[in-house]
Amino acid sequence: MKTKLCLLYGGKSAEHQVSLQTAKAVIGALDLNKFDIYPIYITTEGSWVEGEKLTAPVDQVSELQFEGDGQSSTVAPSLISKTYDVIFPLLHGPNGEDGTVQGLLEVMNLPYVGNGVLASAAGMDKVIMKNVFAQANLPQVRYSWLTRKTWLEDKEAAYEKVEKELGYPCFVKPANLGSSVGISKCTNRKELDAAYEEAFQFDRKIIVEEGIVAKEIEVGLLGNDRPECSVIGEIIPKKDFYDYKAKYEDNSTALIIPAEISEDTQMEMKAMAVTAFQALDCSGLVRADFFLKENGELLINEINTMPGFTPFSMFPLLWKHTGVEYSLLIEKLIDLAKERYEEKQQLKYTF
Ligand SMILES: Nc1ncnc2c1ncn2[C@@H]1O[C@H](COP(=O)(O)OP(=O)(O)O)[C@@H](O)[C@H]1O
Ligand SMILES: [Mg+2]
Repeated sequence: MKTKLCLLYGGKSAEHQVSLQTAKAVIGALDLNKFDIYPIYITTEGSWVEGEKLTAPVDQVSELQFEGDGQSSTVAPSLISKTYDVIFPLLHGPNGEDGTVQGLLEVMNLPYVGNGVLASAAGMDKVIMKNVFAQANLPQVRYSWLTRKTWLEDKEAAYEKVEKELGYPCFVKPANLGSSVGISKCTNRKELDAAYEEAFQFDRKIIVEEGIVAKEIEVGLLGNDRPECSVIGEIIPKKDFYDYKAKYEDNSTALIIPAEISEDTQMEMKAMAVTAFQALDCSGLVRADFFLKENGELLINEINTMPGFTPFSMFPLLWKHTGVEYSLLIEKLIDLAKERYEEKQQLKYTF
């Protein structure tokens, strides 16, 4: 029996193009003797458009971009009548990685790859995520947060609080975005003011963090209740920090796999990553990102519930170095999705 796999990609998101690249790569890696692949393309306006069942890999991402009708989705309700075995949302950022699409799939009782509603939503909000990590006693940079309203009421007080509690340099970030969008590093009051202006364009809530000097190291996790860890990799941004351009547009970032760090640090980091995964009730996959300070201190920065997933992204590369090739990684994720779904079907809904 072949698995009927539906790929959900594109999306009303800054990472639309990245998602298309991922979809093309995933299709190319799947064994068509094992899977029937059904594409659903989400346009940049948010229309969901179904494509024909794929019978071969695609050469160009444009083959995966179907014409939308400019309306919001009519496909979503029709998903219910479809008998897909698994849905794989290849979406990043808001409207994809934040629990909204996951909620739709839950309501439809469809098995899907990756994190559920709670982990996706909590992982997308940097404030909630850090609060959960703090509760799990995971070491982090010092941080504080505020809403646009509080800031507008008294900007002076907002800046004084940050200067007193965190000092310079500090990082200002919208609470609910990824890909470094809207993030600024500030070294004085003038920059802080500009950074708030900028970040509040993207969210009504922002987080401010103490800025530190540290290595950036990352680990991949795979599993449901008891995730396994990949080898650890290091990111070396050649710019001031790892911004959107460095991530997607130029090759100014070097990935070092495995990272050259001590055995003890590796063990400590993996244990912390598993704690973070379980604290947020994650499932399927996560990339956990850490800072390693010169003095050996390890701090968790964030987890990503749908990390970059092209064959050249950190998460698949980490697993490749661990002995799990891209196509096997995809199959493992599909199995994990089925496993979680079946476990959920055992639950009682009446008593
Ligand atoms: N507190 C901090 N101290 C030093 N560098 C930071 C800090 N926070 C973020 N950075 C830099 O900015 C980049 C993006 O920040 P991050 O919190 O990972 O946002 P995103 O969710 O957009 O990836 C990091 O990879 C790192 O290079
Ligand atoms: Mg990051």
